[in-house]
Amino acid sequence: MPQTNNNNSSNYDNYGGMQAILESNCVKIISEGALLLEMPHLWLRDNCPCDACRVTETQEKSFILSDVSADISPSDARISDNTLWINWPDGHQTNFNIEEVLALSSPRHQPPLSWGQNFQPEYFAWTKFLSDDAFATVAIQSFLDFGVIVINKAPQALETLELLAPRLGPIREVLFDRIHNVCVNTHVYNIAHTPLALPPHNDFASYSFPPSAQALHMLENEVEGGRSIIVDAWAVVEKLRQERPDYFEILCRFAVPFREFDEANETYAVEPMIKCDTAGRISSVRFSNQLMQTMDPMMEGVSAFYQAYHELCVRITDPMQRCTFRLEGGQILLVAAHRVLHAREAFTPSGKRHLQDAYFELDNIANKIVQLKRKSEVTLV
Ligand SMILES: [Fe+2]
Ligand SMILES: [Zn+2]
Repeated sequence: MPQTNNNNSSNYDNYGGMQAILESNCVKIISEGALLLEMPHLWLRDNCPCDACRVTETQEKSFILSDVSADISPSDARISDNTLWINWPDGHQTNFNIEEVLALSSPRHQPPLSWGQNFQPEYFAWTKFLSDDAFATVAIQSFLDFGVIVINKAPQALETLELLAPRLGPIREVLFDRIHNVCVNTHVYNIAHTPLALPPHNDFASYSFPPSAQALHMLENEVEGGRSIIVDAWAVVEKLRQERPDYFEILCRFAVPFREFDEANETYAVEPMIKCDTAGRISSVRFSNQLMQTMDPMMEGVSAFYQAYHELCVRITDPMQRCTFRLEGGQILLVAAHRVLHAREAFTPSGKRHLQDAYFELDNIANKIVQLKRKSEVTLV
C-alpha cells in the first residue's frame, strides 16, 4: 500500500521507498535518499498522457503549452503504484508511469560503431537481401552500425537500384537523373564521367541537405584499375578534433560554397564541412574537392580556414585511412553518405565500366529496420 506522509503537506508523498517532492519549479522523485528524477513543471504539464491532452487515435499531443502560463505549478504531487500523480490548480489531473519516465534516458538509436583495423564491409547476397527478412535485418543493422555494406550477385541490369526501394525506402531524387549513370560515354557534368582518379567525396555537397545514403551499383567492370575506396570521415574528423581542436572548430564554423551544375541546371550550397549535433557528436562531413567553389580571398577567416582544410585534406586522402576493394559487376556498394566518403582509383578505359548511382535517406532506412523488427515480433507471437 502507498504510504502517505502525514505532515499535513499535500506536496510530499512516498511509495515503496520513493518520495515525490513538490518544489517551486519542479517535482523531484527521491529514492533511498538519491535523486531519481527531476521534472520541470512545464514538462509535467506538456507531457500529460491523458486522453484530453492527446489525440487518442495517434497518441500525438493535442494540448499545447501556450494554453497555460509559464509559471504553472501543480497543487499536489504524490506517488502510488509506481505512478506519479499530479493535480493542477484548474482541476486537471496528470499521471506518469515512473518506469516509462526513467526509460526516456535511454538513447533511441545505438551509436554507430568504429571500423577498427583492416576493416572491410560485409557482403550480403542480393536475392536473400530482398526475400529474407531476418537476413535483411542483419544487413541493414550492419549498414547502420558501420555506414557501409556491399550487396553482391545483383542483376547486372539497368535500374536494378529501383528494386532496392522496398528494403531501403523511396529513392531520393536529385538533379540530372533518378538513376545516375557513371561511365565515360555519357552526359559529362562531373569528374566521375572521366577515367581520372576521384578523391574521397560525398555526392551532391551542393545541396543544403545532401542525400544521406547512396547506392553505387557496378553493372560491368572490365577495366584495369579503378578500384573503389571508402573512408570513414567521422573517424578522420574525430581524430582531428582530438589532435587539432582549433582546426576542427574552424571547419565546423566556416561555411564553404559547393556547386553542381551543367548547361541548364545549378545547385549551390554554402555550408561548413563538419556538422555536429547539439551533444557535440559529429553528424555529417561534407567533402567534395570537385564541387567546392572558389571563395572570395578577402573574406574574413579564409587564411585560417585554408590551414585547417589543408590538414583535413591530408588526413582524408591518407592511404592509411582508406579501405580499398574492387567493385565487380553485380555488386552494390551502399554507403551512409554523411559519414562514409567514396573514391575511385584512376582506370584505363580498356573495356566497359558502367556504374549506376541512386540515393536514399538514412531516416527511411532506419525506419525499415523498425518495420522488420516489429514484423518479426508479430510473427513470433
Ligand atoms: Fe560520387
Ligand atoms: Zn492531460
